[in-house]
Amino acid sequence: MVDIAQYLIDCKFILVSNREPYEHMHGSHGDIEVKQPAGGLVTALDPTMRRTHGTWVAWGSGTADHEVSDELGRVSVPPGEDCYTLRRVWLDESDVNGYYHGFANRALWPLCHMLIQHFEFRTEYWERYRTVNLRFAHAVADEAERCTGRAMAWIQDYHFALASEYLRAMRPSLFVHQFWHIPFPPADILRLLPIGTYEALLRGMLGNDLIEFQIDRYAVNFLDCVDKYVSEARVDHARQTITFRNRVVSVGAFPISIDAENFASMASSKESTARVATLRDRYARGDRQLGVCVDRIDYTKGIPERIRALDTIWEESPELRERFTFIFVCTPSRTDLPAYNSLERDVIQSIMATNTRFGTPDWTPIVLINENVDSDLLAGVYRAADICIVSSLQDGMNLVAKEFVACQVDERGVLILSRFTGSAEEIDGAMLINPFNVDGFVAAIHAALEMSPEERKRRMHRMRRQLNNSTIFDWLGAILGRATEIMGMHAQPVTA
Ligand code: ADP
Ligand code: F6P
Repeated sequence: MVDIAQYLIDCKFILVSNREPYEHMHGSHGDIEVKQPAGGLVTALDPTMRRTHGTWVAWGSGTADHEVSDELGRVSVPPGEDCYTLRRVWLDESDVNGYYHGFANRALWPLCHMLIQHFEFRTEYWERYRTVNLRFAHAVADEAERCTGRAMAWIQDYHFALASEYLRAMRPSLFVHQFWHIPFPPADILRLLPIGTYEALLRGMLGNDLIEFQIDRYAVNFLDCVDKYVSEARVDHARQTITFRNRVVSVGAFPISIDAENFASMASSKESTARVATLRDRYARGDRQLGVCVDRIDYTKGIPERIRALDTIWEESPELRERFTFIFVCTPSRTDLPAYNSLERDVIQSIMATNTRFGTPDWTPIVLINENVDSDLLAGVYRAADICIVSSLQDGMNLVAKEFVACQVDERGVLILSRFTGSAEEIDGAMLINPFNVDGFVAAIHAALEMSPEERKRRMHRMRRQLNNSTIFDWLGAILGRATEIMGMHAQPVTA
């Protein structure tokens, strides 16, 4: 077990993200409910924050957040457990539209995922992104000022490319680092932003002491972009460092993971075991098989491609009708954006069309669960499945793949995984697919369905061993270890 506390002795830990780990919402009966938003960032970071006891600064997006927070926006979480402090930053509608829906999700998200048909830039988005980044930097600086000893700020994701530069101007001695959860694009894609904007974005990120990416390729892309577009920066590609404004910025790959033990124990609980028995009795009795997928409805996830592959399977192989059923768990996401809205509509319509075409009075090919499902319930579904499909067109890591592996305590399932995910470069034992190649995709589903129990067990066992050796706590330990090392090195100033 990694001892995270050793890195944080006498050091206040301040984490910053756009999405908060707990949203307080007005319920329908005048009560207040607490929800955990779906997404890899929260899944990964909540268990780590429980161990660091630090402060998490995030947008207060819940309808009842104001009511339960103090005048600084602070509240103890998780509710009832009080492990760490959540400090909420309040955003108005124009902030949300410009910064979150606008620059973050209409410009940077599609650009980083190289799905440029969705890319849209507006000057007002960029302006608002800058002001909101500044506001978050102020909140972090304020938290750092309130502590007597050292502090470390850890910024999360593409919502805050400029925050570290602002923070450095406010608190030059504060150690600041950033984890970029999504892919970082090659230089030719980044330059689709207007001239001036992409250079500013890179300079903003260079306000960090350390920048962490999911896999080495994204780190290499970042170094290339800085080399090409920031003339005053000196890039050492071999060491993965950048000398900038008389400082050294380090870059590295730190693949994110999950609390594997917690997922395995949720999957093994008495309730899950009963749920698995029910699901298998209903959908996978005898030689029948059950597939599963779990997603936010996002155009990066390859959802239409997956439905097409499933549809083709039942079309071309009528013998699989009534013998292969698929549970499709997907939750609406970013629904204020037209691209997400229309995707959700299309997904539901396509699933209904498939069910109409192949379904019978006794059998529904795709069982749709269109909501945010509790993780203990998800764990049972993952465990019950014979195959899990992750078909992202591009994905920084994809934690669903790791959750499936963690929950496969019976080692019966096959993971079908897109080559274009960070996980595919880490997990050895999945069947890799190219979601753009429908025939290859269909062939992989066939091969998975036909795979012997021995081969399934061999592959799953290997993946589970790997996962147990690189959990979310190993990830955090590696990052904090590197940060501590750099903090020590930075005691001496750099000479040009
Ligand atoms: P992203 O960060 O892009 O959302 P990941 O696969 O890395 O993608 O992480 C998604 C996380 O959100 C996982 O922890 C997954 O369990 C959770 N999630 C996705 N869809 C749902 C859903 N329908 N209900 C509950 N949780 C979900
Ligand atoms: O993992 C990438 C990410 O953008 C996270 O930052 C985010 O929490 C998650 O996907 C879900 O997206 P959103 O917070 O926009 O709902």
